[in-house]
Amino acid sequence: MAVSFPKCPSSPLPPLQTRNRAWSSPPLQVGDSSKWALLEATKRCHLCVSATNGGSAVAPVEPSKKVQDSGTKTTPTDHSTKVENGIRPTVFSSNEFQDLKTGPDNSGRESTVSITVVGASGDLAKKKIFPALFALYYEGFLPKHFTIFGYARSKMTDSELREMVSRTLNCRIDQRENCDAKMEEFLKRCFYHSGQYDSEAHFIELDKKLKHHEGSRISNRLYYLSIPPNIFLDVVKCTSLAASSENGWTRVIVEKPFGRDAESSASLTRGLKQYLHEDQIFRIDHYLGKELVENLSVLRFSNLVFEPLWSRQYIRNVQIIFSEDFGTEGRGGYFDSYGIIRDIMQNHLLQIVALFAMETPTSLEAEDIRNEKVKVLRSMKTLEIDDVVIGQYKSHTRGGVVYPGYTDDKTVPNDSLTPTFAAAALFINNARWDGVPFLMKAGKALHTKRAEIRVQFRHVPGNLYKKCFGTDLDRATNELVIRVQPDEAIYLKINNKIPGLGMRLDRSNLNLHYAARYSKEIPCAYERLLLDAIEGERRLFIRSDELDAAWALFTPLLKDLEEKRIAPELYPYGSRGPVGAHYLAAKYNVRWGDLGAEH
Ligand code: BG6
Repeated sequence: MAVSFPKCPSSPLPPLQTRNRAWSSPPLQVGDSSKWALLEATKRCHLCVSATNGGSAVAPVEPSKKVQDSGTKTTPTDHSTKVENGIRPTVFSSNEFQDLKTGPDNSGRESTVSITVVGASGDLAKKKIFPALFALYYEGFLPKHFTIFGYARSKMTDSELREMVSRTLNCRIDQRENCDAKMEEFLKRCFYHSGQYDSEAHFIELDKKLKHHEGSRISNRLYYLSIPPNIFLDVVKCTSLAASSENGWTRVIVEKPFGRDAESSASLTRGLKQYLHEDQIFRIDHYLGKELVENLSVLRFSNLVFEPLWSRQYIRNVQIIFSEDFGTEGRGGYFDSYGIIRDIMQNHLLQIVALFAMETPTSLEAEDIRNEKVKVLRSMKTLEIDDVVIGQYKSHTRGGVVYPGYTDDKTVPNDSLTPTFAAAALFINNARWDGVPFLMKAGKALHTKRAEIRVQFRHVPGNLYKKCFGTDLDRATNELVIRVQPDEAIYLKINNKIPGLGMRLDRSNLNLHYAARYSKEIPCAYERLLLDAIEGERRLFIRSDELDAAWALFTPLLKDLEEKRIAPELYPYGSRGPVGAHYLAAKYNVRWGDLGAEH
């Protein structure tokens, strides 16, 4: 990994993890999932103060049956006085954490969670949602009483659903014990209901089945909408009117795209709010559930060394890079009406910027964090076309293999101008970040699969050693790299003396390589987010004002690109993307860190 300066042979430091091993806590026993769960639960608890407030009253549901939620931040007083959309919220037990771990609430009644995956036969459900639910079950994070329902239009029996789900389940590499038995137990708690997405009658049938499984316990219901956004409202209406909980909470997870622009997103939000309160809507951005994205705040706010450097005074630029080494295979239809800016930048990458750049929140409570994030988004300069480069991949033959171009996809029009690559320079107009370019780059069908954050620091003023660096001083600045995936790592590039009698320097990495340091497999983002939704923890979900601010930034640019029919620069499948991205970076005196000698 070390990159030498001219004439300087490399000399990497010994890996830090070997030196740090003595500090690590004793490893947990393999298979001791209850112990693990307890430990994790305790850890989570520190971050989940909001999920454990003292509310415990359970009031009857409003006659309209509008779906209600306990709300994690509200107090009994809040509930009794706050009226949203003309409807007075009902108070429910908000001690989910206690419910999940100990069963009975303060009144002694046990509770149960019913999780309904709407769109159960789709790819996302099969590949991510069911496996994540199983992983939670395996690790002891699901409550004692839970039921999982798949809901979709296709006809399927319970055993056919189980058969379908079983094909995608697997146990963690580090926890194989009892895997088959656990899978069987899990599958026994999975059921299926076939119905139309806009049929209240079909949701009434679902409600009956859910009630049958819930028995006399307090019923909590979570709906995961793994369906196209154009049917979100139909489903939300039906769940709200026909299948919401009558004595516990009901929550709905929705996944992007949340509209195509500011107007359509606002109209979707208005639609959802006819049936749900904001605190029942869990807008998922699965990048917020990724381990290293969650760790961003820990890195910044719990290490003295980083926070003082976290500003325009020391940081030259920040780069948020996303690349995939495959095209839109099989998803051309969806992708063509969204494009890479809506698919990746406006949500996943922007969320990372917001977390990265926010001021210290008052606490770790969801609202405090989301307040700070939204301030960052609102301080950003609206994107202009001159600060954006777009590209589209074309067919390329390598080693006798023909890789198809984007428009070769049958579901994509031949003359499509939809970008599969984009690079953008964003600016945050506040005291901390004034003038610092935040460069984003996202692309499909590139040479590698990677997501990372690169922080390039300024030059050392009056550097005593500058003669040892050759002419390229930029290469001698420190760079902090947070590799979100694959092969999670955090490393800091430093200049170091090569051992010996002379004075020769090279560039080495202080390297925290997760696979070497931590024996536990990293959970998939969906596990964390599903668990948070069950616990009522909203920290990692997008609030509607965040969404509005994100769209406000990108909508004028998207309109401009579409109205002017700007043609994307073509780049070969498997390449490093359009050359234009280099010019954009150069305009701000930046060099992309992912294309340097390190790679
Ligand atoms: C999704 C996008 O949100 O994220 C996909 O719609 C993309 O186009 C995916 O492939 C990437 O997610 P991950 O977790 O595989 O990096």
